[in-house]
Amino acid sequence: MQVRRYKPGEEQELWQLYHDTTHIINGEVYTREQVERWAPHDKDMDEWKERIQKKNPFVAVGDDKIVGFAELEPDGHIDYFYVHHKYQGKGVGSMLYTAIEKEAINQKIPHLHAEVSVPAKEFFLKQGFEILEKKNNIICGTPAINFMMKKQL
Ligand SMILES: CC(C)(COP(=O)(O)OP(=O)(O)OC[C@H]1O[C@@H](n2cnc3c(N)ncnc32)[C@H](O)[C@@H]1OP(=O)(O)O)[C@@H](O)C(=O)NCCC(=O)NCCS
Repeated sequence: MQVRRYKPGEEQELWQLYHDTTHIINGEVYTREQVERWAPHDKDMDEWKERIQKKNPFVAVGDDKIVGFAELEPDGHIDYFYVHHKYQGKGVGSMLYTAIEKEAINQKIPHLHAEVSVPAKEFFLKQGFEILEKKNNIICGTPAINFMMKKQL
């Protein structure tokens, strides 16, 4: 497996991964309406393409396909961080995280922070993050728990 920056032309594959992981993995914890709001079936692909070009994510590649991606913003915010639903628990997330942390240290970013979903909380704790706050936002009429997490570098 290899971790590198995304290449133009991979946006559609990234959307499929994000969509499927959101519906299948996050869908175990959140409602159907919530995951459909985060990853709608009729997503505007021009908007998604523009987003990915701006975020310039790291991608993990294995078996000739993208098996995960992760986004680091200049202020240390980790935005999307998704592993292919068929490659969960195989170390893909750890490889992506290592690349993100290395890049953050190179850029002299003092700390990383993220709004972490329930299914990802244990993973981020394993990476050395601490929970600052548990949030209970109402999304589509139902509470959707997430955690504000931070790691000092
Ligand atoms: C969170 C996520 C990115 C982790 O990726 P992954 O490739 O499955 O993680 P890894 O296999 O590298 O696991 C690393 C460690 O975290 C632990 N871990 C990962 N998910 C876990 C879970 N749900 N419960 C307990 N431990 C977990 C693993 O056991 C492993 O521990 P080890 O090093 O002692 O073996 C992945 O589960 C995912 O895509 N989740 C859904 C999308 C999501 O919610 N993203 C986060 C948005 S903030």
